[in-house]
Amino acid sequence: MAIQPEPDNFADTLKPTDRTTDCLSGSEADIDTDLVLADAFDWLEMAEPSSIHAVVTDPPYGLVEYRSDQLHKRQTGNGGVWRIPPSFDGARRSPVPRFTVLTPGDEEELERFFTRLAPLLMKALVPGAHVFIATNPLLSHHVYGPMMSSGFEKRGEIVRIVKTLRGGDRPKGAHEEFPDVSVMPRSGWEPWGLFRKPVEGRVQDNLRRWGVGGLRRISEEQPFWDVIVCPPAGKVEREIAPHPSLKPQRLMRQLTRAALPMGTGTILDPFMGSGSTVAAARAAGLRAMGIESSTEYHAMAKRAVPLLTQLKDD
Ligand SMILES: C[S@@+](CC[C@H](N)C(=O)[O-])C[C@H]1O[C@@H](n2cnc3c(N)ncnc32)[C@H](O)[C@@H]1O
Repeated sequence: MAIQPEPDNFADTLKPTDRTTDCLSGSEADIDTDLVLADAFDWLEMAEPSSIHAVVTDPPYGLVEYRSDQLHKRQTGNGGVWRIPPSFDGARRSPVPRFTVLTPGDEEELERFFTRLAPLLMKALVPGAHVFIATNPLLSHHVYGPMMSSGFEKRGEIVRIVKTLRGGDRPKGAHEEFPDVSVMPRSGWEPWGLFRKPVEGRVQDNLRRWGVGGLRRISEEQPFWDVIVCPPAGKVEREIAPHPSLKPQRLMRQLTRAALPMGTGTILDPFMGSGSTVAAARAAGLRAMGIESSTEYHAMAKRAVPLLTQLKDD
């Protein structure tokens, strides 16, 4: 399997010479206007058509996991959709959502969520804009179908190689009877759907007119790859941004950089959580905006984005 050769080339992806000159850079952009406390759907309804150049986002899969009752259960360690994964090394592990507990009704709700989201993204994005959308192997079909029905082209999937600690368990309540059986595979990857709003004319025409339509190469020799090895965010990042679904800067910097091939334009993360997408874009001098509906996570993003932006590439 071809694995993207990083991190040794990762620092090269953020050379100062790549910094954009004709849009606000991270330090210049006003954080109060770029980090918006709002419902993403309300915000997108009002957004100027053809005003966003890329979406890089990690939506609330399962929808239920960010409901106040589920967050309370997570805090008290009391059941619900969050569970502590089994420990192999004695280290204390954070709870992860267990999507296998979603009911058919929850899945229908999820499908409705993306059926509502996809046309709003289509309207807000410029032709040739890419959407990078985090998903998981159990639920990705609920995203991909609505995206394609709304007119997005599927341009592939990015495979993030990561130990998710999901799956692999023996049958519940019958571990001893079936010691050699796992109900599902232990998952070692995270899919990111990659979509594009159709280009106007040829890719070169679209690049000239809108600044997007392709993916920024890693270097002259290396195109952007669809396999990225990237472990979960480390301790320093988690202390800065203690969001239960924090995405690591190492991953987000690669995705945001690829999303704006000319280094110009605006990236939107409509479900920004603690702002990891915005911070990653700003670290490369790219403009990004984030929307978050929870006051707690919006406040976290305001604190975290400047600090995450300053972190050196690992
Ligand atoms: C999976 S988390 C994203 C975490 C983010 N990737 C990070 O690194 O911090 C999804 C976020 O979307 C927020 N959210 C859920 N529904 C929303 C909505 N309708 N509008 C805006 N934000 C929403 C949740 O509060 C949650 O913080």
